[in-house]
Formats: sequence, C-alpha cells, structure tokens
Amino acid sequence: MKKLVIKGGNPLKGKIRVSGAKNAAVAVIPAALLAEGDVIIENLPMIKDVYNYCHILNKMGVNLEISETGTVTLFNGKKNLSEPPCDLVKKFRASYYLLGVLLAKYGEAQVTLPGGCDIGSRPIDQHIKGFEAMGAHVEIEHGLVKAKAEKLVGAQIYLDVVSVGATINIMLAAVRAQGTTVIENAAKEPHIVDVANFLNAMGANVKGAGTDVIKIRGVDKLHGCTHTVIPDQIEAGTFMISAAATGGDVLIENVITKHLDPITAKLIEAGAQIEENGDYIRVSFKRRPKAVNVKTLPYPGFPTDLQQPMTAFLSTAEGTSIITETIWENRFKHVDELKRMGAKIKVEGRSAVIEGVESLSGASVQATDLRGGAAMIVAGLMAEGRTDIYDIYHIDRGYQYIEEKYKQLGANISRVEVEKETYYLDKVVCK
Ligand code: EPU
Repeated sequence: MKKLVIKGGNPLKGKIRVSGAKNAAVAVIPAALLAEGDVIIENLPMIKDVYNYCHILNKMGVNLEISETGTVTLFNGKKNLSEPPCDLVKKFRASYYLLGVLLAKYGEAQVTLPGGCDIGSRPIDQHIKGFEAMGAHVEIEHGLVKAKAEKLVGAQIYLDVVSVGATINIMLAAVRAQGTTVIENAAKEPHIVDVANFLNAMGANVKGAGTDVIKIRGVDKLHGCTHTVIPDQIEAGTFMISAAATGGDVLIENVITKHLDPITAKLIEAGAQIEENGDYIRVSFKRRPKAVNVKTLPYPGFPTDLQQPMTAFLSTAEGTSIITETIWENRFKHVDELKRMGAKIKVEGRSAVIEGVESLSGASVQATDLRGGAAMIVAGLMAEGRTDIYDIYHIDRGYQYIEEKYKQLGANISRVEVEKETYYLDKVVCK
C-alpha cells in the first residue's frame, strides 16, 4: 500500500501538459466494440479506469494493444464475446456503457451493476428508461442488469434528470437502431461531444451533441477509425486550482479553454490572473484569495468533479464561501479531512459553509474518493508542514502520473510505502 507525502508551502511554477479526458476515454473504449473494423484510440490517459476497461474487454475476448503513450488499438475480429467479468465491472462506474454497446451489437446485454466513487445514490433508471423506449426489456436480478431487444427501434426520450451516463448510453444503443432516436434534456458535457464525434468517425449519424437535444439516426454498420480523445477538463481544472491555491504561476498546455470557462470565472472572482490562448491557459495568484460562492451544475455550469478541490482552495480564502452541490447528495466527505488540517467548514444539507482560515496545517488524511483525493493534494500543497494522504488508489483511478506532474511544477510530493506500524482507527490514521 502506498501513500502520498506532501511538504506544503511551495508555490507551483512552470508548465504542465494535461492528459486525455478520463470520462471520454471510458466511453470511447467500449464504444469501439461497435465497429466492424479495427479502432485506434489516441491520447488516452494512462489511469486505472482505462487499464480496467481494457482488461474487461480482453477478458471478454477482444484483442487489444496498449502503448505507454496512451494509444489503444482494438482488433474487432471476434464475433461472439463473453459476458463482462463482474469483479472488474464493479470496480468503476463507466462499465455501465457496456449495456448500451452490447445491446446495440447483439440485441442482448448482461452486465453487473457498476461501482465507482461513493458520492451519493447513483441510479441508472434514466439509462433503462431510454433502452425500454427503444423496445428493450430490462430487468435487474441479483445485481445483474439484463437487457434484451428483438430489435432496437428509434424513440423520443426525455431525460428526467440531466445525466451524462444516460445520454451516452442511449447514444450508444441508438447508433444502430432502426430509425431516429431523439434525446431531449441531454447532458452537454465536452465528453458527450467527444463520444458523438467518435461514433460519427465510425460512420454513425449523431447530430446535436453539445446541445440539449441529440438526434441519432441508426445506421446498419459502423467501421473502424482513428480517434484522439479530448483533453481532460477536470485534470486541467485541478491544476488551475492548485496553481491558485499555492500562489503559483502555472501554464497548462493541451487544454480546450472554452471547457474551462466556469473554472476560470470563479478563479478570477477569487483574485486570480488568467491568460488564455488557443490550447493553453496560464493561472497565477499573488495574494490571499477572496471568498466566493460556487454552485455545481451540469455543463456549462461549475463541474461537480471540481467542487472538492475548490473547497480545499477556498478554505484559506478571506471571508465566508458557500459551496452548493446540486449533482451528488454525498460529495462532502472530504470536508472532515480538511477539518483535520484546520479548515473551518460546516456542512448544511447540500451546502458547505467555509469560513476561511489564515492557513492549513499538514496532517494525516484520507482520499475519500477520486476528487476528494485531489482536494487533499490541493490542501497538502497549501498547508504548512507535512501531509500524508492515504487510500490513494482512488486518485490513481483518474489522474495520470499525478505526483510526477506536481513535481515538475516544483511541489515536494512523493509516493511512499505505508509504514507497517501505521493503522486506521475509526478512520483516523494513527502512528
Ligand atoms: N441520475 C439519475 N438517474 C440516472 C442517472 C443519473 O437520477 O439514471 C442522477 C444522479 O443520481 C445524479 C445526476 O443524475 O444526481 C447526474 O448523474 P450522471 O448520470 O450525470 O453521472 P454519471 O454519468 O454517473 C458522470 C461522471 C462523474 C460526474 C457526473 C456528473 C463518468 C464515468 N462519471 O457520472 O464523474 O460527476 O457524470 O458530471 O463519466 C468523476 O470523474 O469523479 C465522476 C464522479
């Protein structure tokens, strides 16, 4: 078992390159099974969720090659694939995309209910509603989702909640359905557009991705293609927040600046200087941040996946900030960890009220989930003294070479073996 050890206080300085988007990657990889030829996917982040997905496909009988530089080639030769292995499916959320893909490919899918970060109840009723509207029969038995359709037929589907997963899963099922499917109240996240572009590169007919109405006209066949995954909005945002939190000056390369607008707006409000140009953004910060209020919303609103790092940043702002989480009802577990470091935060329902303190002090803390882990890194970089972050397997699910990237910016951070005498007691790490 490893942990991250950070000695805080160094302003981050220099250049960093963002990897491919995790939440696009984990949709594009299974979607590649829909093609009849070979598919090359470039700019994939080399993170656990990507390896796990490749492992699942491999166990199902798909031949694939992964290069260290983030290119996966899928050889779509095999006709009949085995069922996805449930032990791996349970390891992360995006395994639910196999439902849409296998339903489109074979008219039948059996996939274990997915896992993922514990950030609130994560139903898939909207995915099922979509599949059923297209003519599938879906039931859940002993944790297994079974979907079957004689023939998938295009349908008009209104999503009751704006759901990234349901929007993508319905697109995946619809690309080879008979007729046209219309998804209303669709999610508009950048990775929805990336998945639609990928499907179109394989010969699909998807229009409107990036707006709240997506139209998918089914086609008979999809062919192989080469696709480059978009840069990760959330990784870029994490570095932007880290630069601001440490009073640093960081140039972040390989970004789509438009995707970062909600983060840029909030950091400027807090006092950051931001310069953007084409595919880079530079964030610098010279003084104590001002308190700001943040409300998470579906894109183009402030992303829930950056709420936790933003909470860490605002814990030393001047004044009182209120963070309202509207997407996940249980995404404040990192708050108790921040409090160990001296933050003054009160959670009231869906809001966290942050009374900014002068500084944080290093402590032993837990990465409670993926982005909660990112929040602990931000806090550790800002804090006086040493911070030990445990349970970093959460962080490795979504951030590529995380400590290497921070080291490149001058952070004092290292990954070390957890000492034998370290133990957990009621979630408090004691030595
Ligand atoms: N929801 C339903 N029914 C559904 C689906 C969703 O009620 O059938 C609700 C959820 O409970 C939630 C809201 O709708 O309140 C939004 O959920 P969504 O389906 O958009 O989330 P998701 O697809 O499960 C993806 C990302 C998350 C990110 C959310 C929101 C992936 C693999 N995961 O999850 O990313 O927080 O969208 O943007 O794409 C992360 O990367 O750390 C992460 C958690």
